[in-house]
Amino acid sequence: MDGLVGKVVVVAGGGGGTGRATARLLGASGARVVVGDVDDARAEEVAAAIRGDGGEAVAVAFDMGDPSSTTALVEAAVERFGRIDGLHNVAGNPAAHRHDGDVVSTPPETWDLQLRSHLLAYAHACRTAIPLMLEGGGGSIVNTSSNAARSAGTTRIAYQAAKAGVETLTRHVAATWGKQGIRCNALSYGVVLTDNARAQLSEEFFAAALVQTWSPRLGEPDDVAGLAALLFSDRGAWINGQVIDVNGGMLLTG
Ligand SMILES: NC(=O)c1ccc[n+]([C@@H]2O[C@H](COP(=O)([O-])OP(=O)(O)OC[C@H]3O[C@@H](n4cnc5c(N)ncnc54)[C@H](O)[C@@H]3O)[C@@H](O)[C@H]2O)c1
Repeated sequence: MDGLVGKVVVVAGGGGGTGRATARLLGASGARVVVGDVDDARAEEVAAAIRGDGGEAVAVAFDMGDPSSTTALVEAAVERFGRIDGLHNVAGNPAAHRHDGDVVSTPPETWDLQLRSHLLAYAHACRTAIPLMLEGGGGSIVNTSSNAARSAGTTRIAYQAAKAGVETLTRHVAATWGKQGIRCNALSYGVVLTDNARAQLSEEFFAAALVQTWSPRLGEPDDVAGLAALLFSDRGAWINGQVIDVNGGMLLTG
């Protein structure tokens, strides 16, 4: 991908899944990458792989449930590379899905954890990154949403609500700081076969998802990395405030 050389991008959740695929592509395209993850060993593996390919990357341990940790991750870009041009909010906390059912059965603690993980962490990262990006003349933020945000699904209500909030956050940032050179977009995934997705979801779920998908297969992490990288590159300079489906043409049912 061109238009990325020298840009400094924080991938919050870059140790695994789609974040890892995007971090690798950004690194291979000449971006300097800060790989953040709760799994610091996997974050270091990704950073080392980027460096092994001739790129520049550092790993930083962060916990999306802790606002001060999220702030430290974003600030690490400036400390290590002198600026921040991009922020990819892509971490996902599988523990938050436990007990997330319908609105009657879902306990308050699950709502707290889902919203703290899958909405507030993204907002805190934006809160820290935007002033730093403005100092550098602008930047690009790519949030991660889910088709679940608008699928009228009957379960995981707290997750769905958190991701709907991420889409609102995305438009808010674009509308508020767009004129100052900050772009903010969200990728809304269908079913992407990451290690965590394979571990958490059943073969029956994947089979049902495939029936609802126009493409002949479900997604792989590399299927979303190209679009994420485009949104950070100069090639994506006029894409702003959008929630973009990357889902193989998934139908929005149940
Ligand atoms: N995979 C899918 O099918 C799918 C579909 C729709 C939306 N999403 C969303 O996309 C995003 C990325 O999902 P994925 O499947 O690529 O990744 P994933 O589930 O593999 O998680 C991404 C990374 O987040 C890290 N992580 C977990 N808990 C963390 C914490 N507390 N603090 C910091 N990092 C933490 C993991 O270690 C992992 O490296 C998530 O927000 C997920 O909800 C995924």
